[in-house]
Amino acid sequence: MLEGKKILLGITGSIAAYKAILLVRLLVKAGAEVRVVLTPAAKSFVSPLVLATLTKYKVLTEMFEEDTWANHVMLGRWADVMVIAPLSCNTLAKMANGQCDNLLLAVYLSATCPVVVSPAMDEDMWLHPSTKRNIDLLKQFGNKIIPVEKGDLASGLIGEGRMAEPETIIAFLKENIFRTSELAEKKVLVTAGPTYEPIDPVRFMGNRSSGKMGFSLAEAFYTKGAEVHLVTGPVNLESSFAGIQVTHVQTAQEMADACMSIFGQMNIAVLSAAVADYKAAVVAEEKIKKNSEELDLHLIKTKDILKSLGGIKKDGQLLVGFALETNNEKENALKKMENKNADIIILNSLRNAGAGFGYDTNKITIFHKDGRIIETGLESKQKIADEIVNFIIKSLHA
Ligand code: CTP
Repeated sequence: MLEGKKILLGITGSIAAYKAILLVRLLVKAGAEVRVVLTPAAKSFVSPLVLATLTKYKVLTEMFEEDTWANHVMLGRWADVMVIAPLSCNTLAKMANGQCDNLLLAVYLSATCPVVVSPAMDEDMWLHPSTKRNIDLLKQFGNKIIPVEKGDLASGLIGEGRMAEPETIIAFLKENIFRTSELAEKKVLVTAGPTYEPIDPVRFMGNRSSGKMGFSLAEAFYTKGAEVHLVTGPVNLESSFAGIQVTHVQTAQEMADACMSIFGQMNIAVLSAAVADYKAAVVAEEKIKKNSEELDLHLIKTKDILKSLGGIKKDGQLLVGFALETNNEKENALKKMENKNADIIILNSLRNAGAGFGYDTNKITIFHKDGRIIETGLESKQKIADEIVNFIIKSLHA
């Protein structure tokens, strides 16, 4: 999503400037074209040589250099977005008052692209009324402010005022600047992760699903403009985007209830969760003691969520399921599509090395009920999620 995007990064004099190096690296890695402008004070905190090496462009700091004039107007017009990170208290005050005594400020004042700032300062400076007023002024100018974080500050104190982490800045850009509208107006339900079925107050039956595929799907739908409802079992993941509505559940029944309650309003549902097929018929009220050599657990079937949704699906609703198979993959996947009344089934074969549970990569085959089949290579789960979402977008228009 950041591929080919033109990002102008302004760095000001703050100890948090070191984080800008990682920010540049992540942006470049994501395929963005980055140009950097430093204030004179920023040069004391971060090396222009490092930034020039990472971006492969000369870093600009001066308005005039012997016989050249840095064209600040063109820089602001070139960029898709200007990001100022870190934004010091001093540069904030100058921006709020329209001062123009360095190149970064000249670029800011002449920028026609959106401007995003990530402030960094000590808590007392951050809470000062003049800072609050200056931030309000920037908001009035239409600039977007990335919230500061709480934690260790350069002064040694702990408090509010830390610059957002580079990953947070990138997520902010994706959510607030580069979100597209192909799926605007569409409501999407995604399920993710495992379910945990209790046996007694301390034990449960679960599986190794990490939830990465489901979270990547939710994010891919969201960045294409959809309203996304993510229902997830227990995972160690957090959504990168504040706008994704996340419901946390534990058991298959809770996941089923959460899905059934909103499915009626959804345009698309993608069920990628690894839902337990069986649960304990009776959950012991007290911890089961190891009093005998053997223990039999009586298990009963859980509700099949995909099948239940397939049973109430209306015209115009697109239902997508996954099939995790180890043998007769294609045949089993197609059977699942038919039995559960899904429109699309995504086959995850555990025979593919590097694909499926626990990996960051996956390799899938997409089957549409109209006969279309698409096979992907072994790719990151984000890339796979993009391919699935693009296939779904095409299916909506077919
Ligand atoms: N699924 C579901 N509810 C369940 C079990 C599975 O909604 N109780 C969904 C999964 O989210 C997935 C699809 O059904 O989208 C297929 O899941 P999979 O585990 O491959 O198949 P099962 O239906 O459980 O059948 P089996 O385990 O026999 O292969």
